Amino acid sequence: MKTLPPVPGSIASLLPYQQGKPIAEVKRELGLSDVIKLASNECPLGPSPRAMAAVGAATADMFRYPDGGGFDLRQALARRHRLDMDNICLGNGSNEIIEMLCRAFVRPGDYALAASPSFLMYQKLVRVAGGILEEIPLDKDYRIDLKALAGAVRARVRLVFVNNPNNPAGTVVTRTELKEFLDQIPPGIIVVLDEAYIDFNSDRACARGEEFLNHSVPVVVMRTFSKIAGLAGLRIGYALADKEIINYFDRVRQPFNTSSLAQAAALAALEDGEFYERHVALVQNERRRYYDAFTRLGLFFLPSQANFVLFHLGPRAEDIFKKMLARGVILRWMGAYNLPEFIRVSIGKPEENIRCLADLERILELERVHFKC
Ligand SMILES: Cc1ncc(COP(=O)(O)O)c(C=O)c1O
Repeated sequence: MKTLPPVPGSIASLLPYQQGKPIAEVKRELGLSDVIKLASNECPLGPSPRAMAAVGAATADMFRYPDGGGFDLRQALARRHRLDMDNICLGNGSNEIIEMLCRAFVRPGDYALAASPSFLMYQKLVRVAGGILEEIPLDKDYRIDLKALAGAVRARVRLVFVNNPNNPAGTVVTRTELKEFLDQIPPGIIVVLDEAYIDFNSDRACARGEEFLNHSVPVVVMRTFSKIAGLAGLRIGYALADKEIINYFDRVRQPFNTSSLAQAAALAALEDGEFYERHVALVQNERRRYYDAFTRLGLFFLPSQANFVLFHLGPRAEDIFKKMLARGVILRWMGAYNLPEFIRVSIGKPEENIRCLADLERILELERVHFKC
């Protein structure tokens, strides 16, 4: 055995991130030919056709390094959000924005706060930086408990993550609640509003981070092209924040963190309003299909403002997840989110949702399992 340099305990205790199972892996491992994936909140429509064309055109230049400052895309985003380009930083997925935040602002022994459950990468990247993520349980309605989050603020808290809509619950915080919350945050803390799913929201009361960028508390709004624009495989997202914060991001990020193809695709996707509308309409309509089916099956579920629905199956949830997998339907069992009795289903195409629900019903019937909320 070769001797490695010492690894900090915070790193040694981390586990590799477990993504929703890729289709190819399930086909290979289970010998299936017809597999659908409703596990990673991806776009059921595929990528925007305009983005595909833009990537095709951009390949001719891929022997060159990308524009590390992402000028064209940042300019288009600045117009879209009515901000200066200096208020925008691109990331290799919005995941990288979390990483930049942790690199720039979290020292060993510092704290960050987030709701529990919420996106798993907060925990991981805070720990990589030597920090500690304190998790505040969602309230009884599975909503982020902003009062409890504010109450947990104390010395050495540097970041507070507010995931709106929340992954995995799909619930939102309102504009009034967020304002009240921000008013309680003392100086020296950044509030991170992770809006990966905000485009799917249909609740008028839902807070939008952009409206809070001028608050006296420093706010970072995170957005991604992975979900709404169907570009998860290209890895591109961005942050909106005060210039001073963006300047720190520029110091800690890799110089060419977003590829030329990703920048070209994102720019084209931004201009594809028709695709965007079609995607939002699909998600909002198909969410109802799940609500109706879960209601009929007597399963507890959370009405969602995102492109997924969380539902309760009880102690057999993992087993049912495996049975669905064996039928070629990849869902996300929520064990890693500390909700072992729940499964999260990403909204797919109508035919995928119909197949998923038919398989689920069949499995429940076969097992004569009757769950009531
Ligand atoms: C809440 C939330 N934030 C951020 C991300 C990261 O997205 P990406 O790195 O693909 O932009 C995800 C991905 O699933 C997410 O669920």
